[in-house]
Amino acid sequence: MAPLDLTDDPTVLRARGSLKWTGTRGEIAAWVAESDLGTAPMVTAALHDAVDRGLTGYLPPYERSGAARSCADWQCRRYGWDVDAERVRLVPDVVQALQLTVAHLMPPDAPVVLPTPAYMPFVDLPASWGREVVQVPMVTDDRGRAVLDLQAVDAALAEGGMVVLVNPHNPTGRVHTRDELAALAAVVEARGATVFADEIHAPLVHAGHHHVPYASVSAAAAQHSVTATAASKGWNVAGLKCAQVLLTSDEHLAAWDAVPHTAEGVSTLGAVAAMAAYDDGEAWLDELLVYLGANGRLLAEVLAAEAPEVGFRAPEGTYLAWLDLRGAAVPGDLAPGELARWLRRASGVTTVDGARCGTAGRGFVRLNLAMPASLVEEAAHRIAAALHGPSAARTTAGPAGPAPR
Ligand SMILES: Cc1ncc(COP(=O)(O)O)c(C=O)c1O
Repeated sequence: MAPLDLTDDPTVLRARGSLKWTGTRGEIAAWVAESDLGTAPMVTAALHDAVDRGLTGYLPPYERSGAARSCADWQCRRYGWDVDAERVRLVPDVVQALQLTVAHLMPPDAPVVLPTPAYMPFVDLPASWGREVVQVPMVTDDRGRAVLDLQAVDAALAEGGMVVLVNPHNPTGRVHTRDELAALAAVVEARGATVFADEIHAPLVHAGHHHVPYASVSAAAAQHSVTATAASKGWNVAGLKCAQVLLTSDEHLAAWDAVPHTAEGVSTLGAVAAMAAYDDGEAWLDELLVYLGANGRLLAEVLAAEAPEVGFRAPEGTYLAWLDLRGAAVPGDLAPGELARWLRRASGVTTVDGARCGTAGRGFVRLNLAMPASLVEEAAHRIAAALHGPSAARTTAGPAGPAPR
């Protein structure tokens, strides 16, 4: 197995021209959910082969059905979910899948019910599609885990609506258990509501945890949900534009197929990459997961030693670290959304501001662990030093709004 790409020279990484490193000047780029660790050699080889064959035109039907089959096979092999490949459709990306679901599969006027903190575009995009977004802050259970507030979800669904479930969860890194998902399904079913299950991070689940596809928890869940996934996070091919939508209800499938051109924009090379990833990329992914798991522990160790006031639990899934700075010495007069900007100036580490993940994210930042361990360690040292250095305020950020407790 070819090793992961462990290039850790920021100058070299910047010179590659990725979005993540573009615009950095000596900072460690740990914001957007891209990986510095490369992709599986089988994916690279399949892409080279396709380009060498001149396969750079429109998506041929056999590539479309091939990617659908590879996705279905992966669901069965990896998660034990037997889903018919005939029910898999392609879209360029998961955000597009959500937009199509909102536009064509949801009753008009039904709100989008969004557990927060949430993936940033889900907070503001539905409003631009004419939908109300009801943020439902997650809560902390007696084991310190961020969990859905089912009572609040139930209340938000009083008039119906669609829950956007992200599992594994960006940004908290939670991997919802079968019991948690079944409990959500009972609430949704009782309300006659629906679920958009965003499972883009499903391949990235760490040792000791298991991805359970939402639609697999019960017949009712399969009927009231639409699942979207992709190889784009696990194998770092987000720029290639080929996500998959799994339509487990006949009604949803018929409604989806009645919309013309839903696969418009899916790239041929994206389908090639998805097939290679799902069919041949499992061993490489497992190697990546070992590395990412160690990165999570490394961050926890350095923060525990040097900045124990930072709240952090190594993620159960995803490569995202969700750092609670509400008890840390950051300037008290920061406006919502200014925390990551301050941290970037003070530490030279670029993160995502938790306020962009909804009001529940205020006082948090999201840090990307998909980089060489040396950079994770350096980022942790820098953040700790910033929180304890001269630019750190002697007051704490304080809870600027409801947040996971
Ligand atoms: C939970 C989640 N959903 C969707 C996306 C975006 O996916 P896509 O590029 O397929 O729209 C991301 C990207 O980070 C994500 O974390």
